[in-house]
Amino acid sequence: MMYTDPELLEMAKKIPSLLAPSLAEDWPELPVVKAEGAYLYTADGRRYLDFTSGIAVTNVGHCHPRVVEAAIKQTEEMVHSAVGVTIHRSLIELCEELIKVLPPKMDMFFFGNSGAEAVEGALKLARYVSRRPGIVAFEGSFHGRSYGAASVTSVKSKYRDHYEPFVPGIYFVPYPYAYRCPLGDTPEAALEWTLLAIRRLFQHQIPPSQVAAFLVEPIQGEGGYIVPPPGFLKALRKICDEHGIYLIVDEVQCGFGRTGKMFAAQLFDVQPDIMAIAKGIASGFPLGATVASRKLMSQWKAGAHGTTFGGNPVSCAAGVATLRVMREEKLLENCRAMGLRFIEGLRALQKKYPLIGDVRGAGLMLAIEMIVPGKEKQPNPEAAMQLLELSLERGLLAYMAGTYGQVVRFIPPLIVTAEQVDLALNILEDGLSKIPASG
Ligand SMILES: Cc1ncc(COP(=O)(O)O)c(C=O)c1O
Repeated sequence: MMYTDPELLEMAKKIPSLLAPSLAEDWPELPVVKAEGAYLYTADGRRYLDFTSGIAVTNVGHCHPRVVEAAIKQTEEMVHSAVGVTIHRSLIELCEELIKVLPPKMDMFFFGNSGAEAVEGALKLARYVSRRPGIVAFEGSFHGRSYGAASVTSVKSKYRDHYEPFVPGIYFVPYPYAYRCPLGDTPEAALEWTLLAIRRLFQHQIPPSQVAAFLVEPIQGEGGYIVPPPGFLKALRKICDEHGIYLIVDEVQCGFGRTGKMFAAQLFDVQPDIMAIAKGIASGFPLGATVASRKLMSQWKAGAHGTTFGGNPVSCAAGVATLRVMREEKLLENCRAMGLRFIEGLRALQKKYPLIGDVRGAGLMLAIEMIVPGKEKQPNPEAAMQLLELSLERGLLAYMAGTYGQVVRFIPPLIVTAEQVDLALNILEDGLSKIPASG
């Protein structure tokens, strides 16, 4: 099927005068007229294999018929009426569906509209209940753009520049990033580096008795799809238990099946106290949630936090359908199988192309880190961008990540097929063969 829309191509020229330039470096502003499954169709009649999934949102594929049907039905019945003023069936159904797949005891929700709001809720809840001020976050983190979420974000100083002062009481320690750990590039060294920093933080800057929460991405997203050492989350859990600190897990990007488990914390067998979830929850309808146990969340007294749009009926209906599709179409299984196929292909490319310094990820949350060959792992954002552009020319849409923009990340929908994975690998190989190894 071909879609064209010459008018949209003309209209697209107005974008720079209409949208805030703070968005302008985003990539690549494709004028899309139709999205279906793993594909985007643009106004110039082209088709792209979408390995961004709207940045980890459309995990069940674009416009899944069952999600669309559920949203239409709910739209006809009621689009909006603020939760609290009214309640509706899809809200309760969504809570029930979520409880089935969340870690044990994660059974109370505050719904918002985005990942940032889910993080805001988590931070407010932790401070409110603990009556402690401190929040410990990680270098390389990304938690969103609202003030609280930006205050705990440190992937790039550019995201913080000119916004000081941030929310007070926030401390950063290094994320265990083995590939770039100053102590040595092993998981053990990376874990030790992080634990040392936490010990020093408690010794020099804030006693653990004043810390409300650790906020952590089980796999860092914007930071470059960094998978921490296997013992990392367990070690954090232990520190939290020793000092009565809450463990907030940000599953906004790595949740909803992305890593082959429903939630990435489950990969490490760790029970969080509070979770932030969004993105993949409703296949693109705006929705996010702060989640905790009833025991914890019921201490958040009436009026302490609220929302107008959070828990919107259409988003909730889409969320219910999304979770049922994931279960009934066995998308976690497909994610694991396709993830394995893809990462093996990426590792084979790494052997051939020294531009690829590292291959990593879990499930279908995969990335390659580009370096300048022979230059001590020097980050190579130019090569990353070239590869993205060459891939786009050949019909594959991927995305960048990493502090220097040196990482190319792949976020295919969990419905992706073996043929699509192989096609993506061929396109990548073709692109890599055209990039000079010197970067
Ligand atoms: C881990 C993580 N947390 C929070 C957010 C913020 O989500 P949103 O853009 O929906 O506010 C993101 C967005 O990329 C994210 O990756």
